Amino acid sequence: MANKENWGSRVGLVLAMAGNAVGLGNFLRFPVQAVQNGGGTFIIPYLVCFLLMGIPLLFVEWSMGRFGGKFGDHSTPFILSNMAPKKQFLWKYVGVFGIFTNLAVAAYYCYLESWTLSYTWHSIAGSFQGQTAEGIANFFNNYVLNPGTEAYAFWIFCLVLNTYILSRGLSGGVEKVAKVGMPLLIVFGIFLAYKGLTVQAGVDGAIFSSSEGLNFLWAPTPGSSVWDPKIWVAAAGQIFFTLSVGMGSIQCYASYMRQRDDVALNAMSAGWMNGFVEVCLGAAIVIPISVGYFGIDWVIENTKNGGLGLGFRTLPYLFQQWGPVIALISGVFWFGLLFFAGITSSLAMGTPCMGFLQDEFKMSREKSAWTFGAAIFFLGLPTVLFFKYGVFDEYDYWAGTISLVVFALLEIILFAWIFGMEKGWKEITSYADIKVPVVFRFIIKWVTPTLLLFVFIGAFFKPVGNDWSAVLQGRWVLDDGSVVNTILNSGLHKKIAATTDGAQLEELNKQLTYINLSRMLLVAMFATVAAMVYIAYRKRVK
Ligand code: PHE
Repeated sequence: MANKENWGSRVGLVLAMAGNAVGLGNFLRFPVQAVQNGGGTFIIPYLVCFLLMGIPLLFVEWSMGRFGGKFGDHSTPFILSNMAPKKQFLWKYVGVFGIFTNLAVAAYYCYLESWTLSYTWHSIAGSFQGQTAEGIANFFNNYVLNPGTEAYAFWIFCLVLNTYILSRGLSGGVEKVAKVGMPLLIVFGIFLAYKGLTVQAGVDGAIFSSSEGLNFLWAPTPGSSVWDPKIWVAAAGQIFFTLSVGMGSIQCYASYMRQRDDVALNAMSAGWMNGFVEVCLGAAIVIPISVGYFGIDWVIENTKNGGLGLGFRTLPYLFQQWGPVIALISGVFWFGLLFFAGITSSLAMGTPCMGFLQDEFKMSREKSAWTFGAAIFFLGLPTVLFFKYGVFDEYDYWAGTISLVVFALLEIILFAWIFGMEKGWKEITSYADIKVPVVFRFIIKWVTPTLLLFVFIGAFFKPVGNDWSAVLQGRWVLDDGSVVNTILNSGLHKKIAATTDGAQLEELNKQLTYINLSRMLLVAMFATVAAMVYIAYRKRVK
């Protein structure tokens, strides 16, 4: 069965792409990254990374996708290999990232998505009414640390729902969800942002107070510096995650465009819509509300381990302070918004794998969707069962953070240097509905790859305490947060060595085992996809 699907309409395509990008990253990850990296200080590198890495990569990935579609390729392995000279046969294995990452991210992302569904339900059912802050926080801890029947039920439901929508195809499934979900999400977001901005933070409220709420995000924190490389790595990481670049899902969506469709304006529309949702709405909800009640120091302390805590443990409690009716509306809007943000992204993660199965193994759309569903059930199971041992975070780190940078670096080298900027620029600008500023030709060729290289080196070989001046003086001791030391589990080994308490030691050793096992699983996943690419290649040669 030839895979000849197309998007139904331009609005549908842009909304689906915006839905792909707008996700839990916009509402949960962004605010926390900003808080942890100096508030307003973070915004400068963030914007620079958006302009110099995000936008160029959007142009590149959209046009790569449309280019691939011309040859009937809908996933990165053969899109990439088609752009390279025949004898450079390794590119198709680089393209494995564009399937692997989606599988691995979907595996944990769908579980997270199911929490938002469960919380929407609990908001409607009034489960949070009259509960203490502690009660609501414990509810969450219990939910994730000892998942019960309910957690499994919502998770399975969420998987089946995703799979079902995917089986209905792009225009019949994904596009419909985006057309309903995205506008609703924006309405919910505006309501909550209004509540966030008018909450009484400090003395003057979120907007006018100089130290609280919104202002914290827009004024550099004294003592933090824009020159701190850690902040740049965090900003770049956020840009990747939120725009879904370096994943392979944009290429896949774009490969279903018609050849005469515009790439440049569409890419900008989806990209800027994501920026708006993130910077205007995402920044105006969790942080101003939590800061309003608990103050900024508390918020900084309580986001050290990610943003899930604020979104799930704290907000349902704070909503209760607004009276039962507004609490109900806010709860439904907040978790409903997260759910729509989540599902339009997880659907995007399903398509590269499906496209690959349909193109290469002649599967039907339905069959490829259910294969994907089954795969993320098995791959996601460890993140549900062993959440408390850090398996979920392990997936997020390798697939949701590191892989994106590695893949983006390689694909832009292919695009700008091997495929060549001459042809590349033509791909970006042909049938374009806007005039793409010529400066992007230079940026794509030189600036983006250079920045990516810096981010790559910064992440892999981060020196102790992030002290790069020591490196310049010839002392390069790796930090436990560097990729290299993470692979070696240095931090965990140190903890184990320093622990004398028997029970605690046992827990730490268990954690070590589960972390290593989940890494092996991820490597096996990559290898399996690579083997399938090889089989597909052999079939093509024949
Ligand atoms: N961009 C999405 C978010 O912000 C995450 C995502 C990553 C979606 C990769 C699709 C592919 O949550």
